[in-house]
Amino acid sequence: MSILEPLAIECTSHSEAQTQRLGMRLGTVLPRHAIVALQGPLGAGKTSFARGIGIGWGADQILRSPTFTFIQAHHRSQDNAVLYHIDLYRVESDADLLTLGLEDALSDEDGIAIIEWPERIADLIPPDAIYVRFAITDETHRQLKIATQDTHTWQVLLKFRKLAFGV
Ligand SMILES: Nc1ncnc2c1ncn2[C@@H]1O[C@H](COP(=O)(O)OP(=O)(O)OP(=O)(O)O)[C@@H](O)[C@H]1O
Ligand SMILES: [Mg+2]
Repeated sequence: MSILEPLAIECTSHSEAQTQRLGMRLGTVLPRHAIVALQGPLGAGKTSFARGIGIGWGADQILRSPTFTFIQAHHRSQDNAVLYHIDLYRVESDADLLTLGLEDALSDEDGIAIIEWPERIADLIPPDAIYVRFAITDETHRQLKIATQDTHTWQVLLKFRKLAFGV
């Protein structure tokens, strides 16, 4: 792990389980109203990481790749907050985007939102979002860059770093 720029953390995952574990660590420290945008090619590990976030955050059910829905709402019993798992890969038109209920998901003050393929709604992603960029190094290795432009959100990422790497 190294810090390559002020508000980004870079690390390598050696397995799907490790990617899920990194997501779990992040899920543990996410505050209410957090938005996490997961970027990377097909099969990069976005859903694996999202599944980990769900576990760390305390979602009642395991997150899966949604097949027919673009937004999957997961609850947690402790406070009934909602985790919105949004996957925009199959969205075909701007008209589709308008009917999804994206704005409700992104404006839920008590919930959190995880977005796969966030490029499709770049304008709707707030400046305090957390971006996780995945690069496929080889069959089992993924390079992750976890970044934000917001100094307040950076404090959240420092907590994540401490939890995940002890520094
Ligand atoms: N280090 C790793 N981290 C995550 N996944 C890995 C890793 N190494 C291999 N894999 C494999 O890569 C695939 C990642 O799938 P996953 O559904 O998480 O990707 P995704 O980015 O959500 O893809 P999609 O764009 O299709 O939604 C799985 O088959 C997993 O076993
Ligand atoms: Mg996926």
